[in-house]
Amino acid sequence: MSTITISAGHLRTRIDGNFKGKDIVSLDQFSQKDLYKLFTLTHEMKHIAVNSVPSNLLAGTITSLLFYEPSSRTFGSFAAAIKRLGGQTLDIQSPETVTSVYKGESFEDTIRVFEAYSDAIVLRHKIAGAAKQAAEAAEFVPIINAGDGNNEHPTQTLLDLYTLYETFGRLDNLTGLLVGDVLNSRTIHSLIRGLSLFKQNTVYLLSPQRLQLPREDFQQLSARGITIIEIASEQEIPHDCDFWYWTRIQKERFASLEDYNGVAQQTFTVTPQLMQRCASKNMILMDPLPRVGTIEPSVDRDARAVYLRSQIRNGLYIRMALLALVLGKA
Ligand code: CP
Repeated sequence: MSTITISAGHLRTRIDGNFKGKDIVSLDQFSQKDLYKLFTLTHEMKHIAVNSVPSNLLAGTITSLLFYEPSSRTFGSFAAAIKRLGGQTLDIQSPETVTSVYKGESFEDTIRVFEAYSDAIVLRHKIAGAAKQAAEAAEFVPIINAGDGNNEHPTQTLLDLYTLYETFGRLDNLTGLLVGDVLNSRTIHSLIRGLSLFKQNTVYLLSPQRLQLPREDFQQLSARGITIIEIASEQEIPHDCDFWYWTRIQKERFASLEDYNGVAQQTFTVTPQLMQRCASKNMILMDPLPRVGTIEPSVDRDARAVYLRSQIRNGLYIRMALLALVLGKA
């Protein structure tokens, strides 16, 4: 398994208050101000979606959804976001079987073909760094990273941060518990970056030992100002966390099924008993989903469980807002 890529390379494409035409590759491109601008528009988008208000904000635009890896939420919410705003999509799932990738076309050529047909490309890829590579290949349209290998998943973090902001009214002074595949979870990597933009945040990381952050990444992320504390068992979970963020073990990142099975047995699962014992009254329980052994279904009825409530819905609203800004329509 490779280490995650932490570089300042994307800093040259910082948002700096102007999203129009910008690639969205990493959380490192955002400032607090950029996030608040996005959240303000997200609130408006929520009104449009919840009330089924007809909108033509993206009328006349086509966005390619180029997904080299399976997806339910990211693909579905981007497609719904575009349609809610009157835009159109070019849906390419598994390009390696349905496009000229099958014939040996290079990744860069595929990107340049789809930028000829659309106004933006939303890209999911199994290889860490693929979004940056695509952004370098594309000359005319923005690339939005919908998850690249075990590297980053910026739009997931935008919706996660929005969910925290909606709940607590702030993004500083928060304590979180991040559990599961800390090594491979791109959502965790992006979330730590996002929380690092704000003061006085602390995250506890709980994972099987083999799935801890590589030491170099741990040090680099800690140097951003966020306090990161690794724990080894459920007994060490602090009882005053504002949120828990549970992630599955990423089966697809393992070299073999045997390898995966060895680690999967050490996984952690949220049960009603664990909630009762260790979760505070006002915390929220998040999961980027899919849940695979992460949270028992009986926990769903707990009002603190937001993964199938606000968290999932915010994915639609935040992607509506992001597309409107990147396509220069808001
Ligand atoms: N959370 C998330 O990225 O889910 P999908 O893989 O279904 O898009």
